[in-house]
Amino acid sequence: MNATKIALGTIPFGTTVSEKDTFAILDRFVEAGGTMLDTADNYPFWVEGRTGDESETAIGSWLAARGNRDQVFLSTKVGARPTVPGDTTLASAEGLSAAAIGTAIEGSLRRLGTDHVDLYWSHIEDRSVPLEETLAAFDELAREGKIRHAGASNLPAWRLERARNVSAANGWLPYTHLQLRHTYLRPRPYTRPAEAGHTLTTDDHLEYLREEGVTLWAYNTLMFGAYTREDRPIPEIYDHSGTTRRLAVLHEVARELGATPNQVVLAWLMADGHVPIVGVSTMAQLDEAIGAAELKLENELKARLDAPC
Ligand SMILES: NC(=O)c1ccc[n+]([C@@H]2O[C@H](COP(=O)([O-])OP(=O)(O)OC[C@H]3O[C@@H](n4cnc5c(N)ncnc54)[C@H](OP(=O)(O)O)[C@@H]3O)[C@@H](O)[C@H]2O)c1
Repeated sequence: MNATKIALGTIPFGTTVSEKDTFAILDRFVEAGGTMLDTADNYPFWVEGRTGDESETAIGSWLAARGNRDQVFLSTKVGARPTVPGDTTLASAEGLSAAAIGTAIEGSLRRLGTDHVDLYWSHIEDRSVPLEETLAAFDELAREGKIRHAGASNLPAWRLERARNVSAANGWLPYTHLQLRHTYLRPRPYTRPAEAGHTLTTDDHLEYLREEGVTLWAYNTLMFGAYTREDRPIPEIYDHSGTTRRLAVLHEVARELGATPNQVVLAWLMADGHVPIVGVSTMAQLDEAIGAAELKLENELKARLDAPC
């Protein structure tokens, strides 16, 4: 088994997934070769009664119990933590000022029980702050050894390009990673996901990544389980005739490979050079995701999946 190309999502860890189950899932992930973890300084603040500390705290407890910090590529995010306790919206989000970033990193390092994160993401955009201020703050963290790489989540391609130009002009740590919502189904044009803050990939993003060598970490890859579960309707944004055809091809390829549709989606993302983030809450879901890394999508199958519809 080889989960090196998959990142593990961690939203429910320490809350709906108990500490015991969190530890077991994390253990299994690293046993299968997985290293990349995706968390944030606010997971899951939108759930009544939660602060947003829970996911980082659960990971920190596991790292402390296992003593394996060096085997993990740890990513966390800043920008979308509420500053008003109990606010379950993004209205009071901390944002991306130098002061907010300086405070946020200390909280994340404390909860994670580490002196650095391998990849630090700006979680959302904050256009009230000049890009120069945010990127200088990220660079300062890199020079202090608190972060190793920088990434941006939930922003349009033109803003990523502008940010990378600002970093290049000043010799600062650039954004080398992008995190967006991306799956095999394509949304209808001009639609938005129901979930606040989620930003979908566009053709512009995908072309930019290819040209510039920026790495995409894709989230919501399995649409909350909707590819295979009747209790999870396919989100409304994918309601169009192209979806019917894409699902037909997906199921056909899955049958030919003896794989599940979820595994084909993950393999298809990896074949494009993307890192799929898988959000699992059970061992069976994790095993299914890890199995995707073993799938080989021959050129003909990849072309069939890619065909426009
Ligand atoms: N940057 C951002 O703004 C952003 C936004 C959202 C997410 N993320 C990251 O991406 C990760 C995953 O995102 P997500 O939770 O929105 O999407 P997801 O991975 O598509 O959905 C996760 C849920 O799908 C179900 N599921 C997973 N594997 C399954 C399988 N093999 N078969 C059936 N059902 C399955 C599970 O639901 P049940 O638990 O109910 O069984 C699981 O909790 C998060 O943990 C987070 O790290 C980032």
